[in-house]
Amino acid sequence: MRTFFGQFFSNFKTTGAILPSGGFLARRMTRPARKADGPMRILEIGPGTGAFTRHLLRNLQSGDELHIVEINTTFAEYLESRLLKTFRRENPDIQVHLHCASIEEAPIDGVFDYIVCGLPFNNFPVSLVRQIFRRMMSLLADGGKLTFFEYAGVRALKAPMVGSRGREQMKRHAATMKVLVRRHRGQRDFVLVNMPPAYAHQLTR
Ligand SMILES: C[S@@+](CC[C@H](N)C(=O)[O-])C[C@H]1O[C@@H](n2cnc3c(N)ncnc32)[C@H](O)[C@@H]1O
Repeated sequence: MRTFFGQFFSNFKTTGAILPSGGFLARRMTRPARKADGPMRILEIGPGTGAFTRHLLRNLQSGDELHIVEINTTFAEYLESRLLKTFRRENPDIQVHLHCASIEEAPIDGVFDYIVCGLPFNNFPVSLVRQIFRRMMSLLADGGKLTFFEYAGVRALKAPMVGSRGREQMKRHAATMKVLVRRHRGQRDFVLVNMPPAYAHQLTR
């Protein structure tokens, strides 16, 4: 919790939240991967202190593969020392790879059955949002599922504070999301018990 709070102040744009996600949101975000039979390849993007990672690790079976991409070295070191080191030692037949890089540049290939994305898209310019979604969709297997989330009402709350350029950007952001949802059979669930409440989105390739 302290690590996350500290990164909110030192890396506001990329951290995008003051607190890690809660258990209800974590369960919804990881549900497709947790309910599936393996062997499977999972990609988690933007794990922070591991709110979703813990749920993914708990469910992995022999032969599964998890790749984690985190841009922030403080979070990556935290994950490695608090979660991944022990997990790898206790589960030598499960591959877990941590890439300390941005998803735009991370050296990963092949396709994934599930992508769990924790990125704060509302903090990013629309061109970057589009670039990241193009990369994620290119890494998703046919029939694969991608989950991502956004805080409920975030655009309405920001609108009075961002000026006309900011509001234009928010409109383009919402339009981008609409296209993605239409193109990839989007579904969303409202998760009330989270700080703040959030929408969990799911796309299917
Ligand atoms: C809102 S936090 C979510 C953390 C965690 N998934 C949770 O829900 O508690 C966003 C995370 O995405 C990471 N991040 C931001 N931009 C990124 C990028 N381009 N590539 C990879 N990770 C990124 C941040 O460092 C941070 O860990």
